[in-house]
Amino acid sequence: MVLDGKRILLIIGGGIAAYKCLDLIRRLRERGANVRCVLTKAAQEFVTPLSMGALSAEKVFTDLFDREDEHDVGHIRLARESDLIVVAPATADMMAKVAHGHASDLAGAVLLATKTRVLFAPAMNPQMWAHPATRRNLAVLKDDGVYFVGPNRGEMAESGEAGEGRMAEPLEIVAAAEALLDDRLKPLSGKRIIVTSGPTHEPIDPVRYIANRSSGRQGHAIAAALAELGADVQLVSGPVNIPDPDGANVTRVESARDMKAAVEELLPADAGIFVAAVADWRTATETGEKIKKQAGADVPHLELVENPDILAGIGHHKMRPHLVIGFAAETQNVVENARKKLSKKGADFIIANDVSHDSGVGESGVMGGTRNRVIVVGSDGEEAWPEMSKEEVAEKIAALVAERLTA
Ligand SMILES: Cc1cc2nc3c(=O)[nH]c(=O)nc-3n(C[C@H](O)[C@H](O)[C@H](O)COP(=O)(O)O)c2cc1C
Repeated sequence: MVLDGKRILLIIGGGIAAYKCLDLIRRLRERGANVRCVLTKAAQEFVTPLSMGALSAEKVFTDLFDREDEHDVGHIRLARESDLIVVAPATADMMAKVAHGHASDLAGAVLLATKTRVLFAPAMNPQMWAHPATRRNLAVLKDDGVYFVGPNRGEMAESGEAGEGRMAEPLEIVAAAEALLDDRLKPLSGKRIIVTSGPTHEPIDPVRYIANRSSGRQGHAIAAALAELGADVQLVSGPVNIPDPDGANVTRVESARDMKAAVEELLPADAGIFVAAVADWRTATETGEKIKKQAGADVPHLELVENPDILAGIGHHKMRPHLVIGFAAETQNVVENARKKLSKKGADFIIANDVSHDSGVGESGVMGGTRNRVIVVGSDGEEAWPEMSKEEVAEKIAALVAERLTA
């Protein structure tokens, strides 16, 4: 069952159709979903938090400025802790507020703070639904990625009125929720993808190591974006200070050699995306004891040896994934160097980024920063993407992977 164990946040707006949510909660719960409700102020004129709480067997949320819930910024938590947000009935007023990003009540704040998919079930008088203002808001919301179910044609609560504006029936809303949460319908469902992320640490002695400025933000964002499209994501991460991405299996490693072994262990895979900033060199010898500073003695000399090239190793591997993508951090001749790497490493794409401090990207540059500007170099040409957040780069790369793996 698709809804089994899924967390659904039901935001109930102030319309006559709010009574149908009593049945909707039952239908969702009998399919195994966990339902939490937010009631707008207007919704409470139509249905009570008491009945919604009894049916959902969960606390009901009504107030943005709730002292108990907001001690840990509860509205942000509500926004994050769900697999789907359903807004039913979605009133004309709610559509207007959300289309314009208002966060003046709990429902608005949650909807603005969420990255979760949102399903609106509008319900209103046919004149309100047909009004140019509502049409505009509908277009904006659809453009922002909000999904819709209904409204249907039929009798209105107002006597003698009929037309388009009746809220979809609870079972139609359930079916729309199931379609959105069904991983089998996602483009990368059933595809296994290995992603590497972060820096590597190359030990000098038990306390010192060679590292680089990679934060793991780009690789982790790619892992999350691929998981969002239904992929079975295997993330191999070097030491980072950011949380694990949602929906990915994470293997933590320290050195380039550990990373190589972990990646090989995870083969076979449909695609490999090598985002980690793997150290090119490690020390030739690794001492088991801390190198001591001794008065009068020479400073130690570190001899470096080359680390294995993980991307090239996988690009030419006998179990090479169907699609291999590598990142190339360059400070000069970015495209030219990326093109050379394409064949040398056996990759389908090299995603080149200019990591020089004066690249003009963000405040702190690409390495360790939150923004990126990349050039996607493939065998049949190259495409320069404008500067955007690392999450946006990740979404575009996930779409590229989906296109290549499903072609
Ligand atoms: C009896 C009654 C029924 C209403 N039914 C609807 C409705 O079906 N759809 C709608 O968009 N607004 C309806 N409204 C108006 C909303 O309650 C009003 O716009 C409110 O501000 C919506 O707030 P909310 O979106 O925060 O819940 C109704 C108002 C009343 C008094």
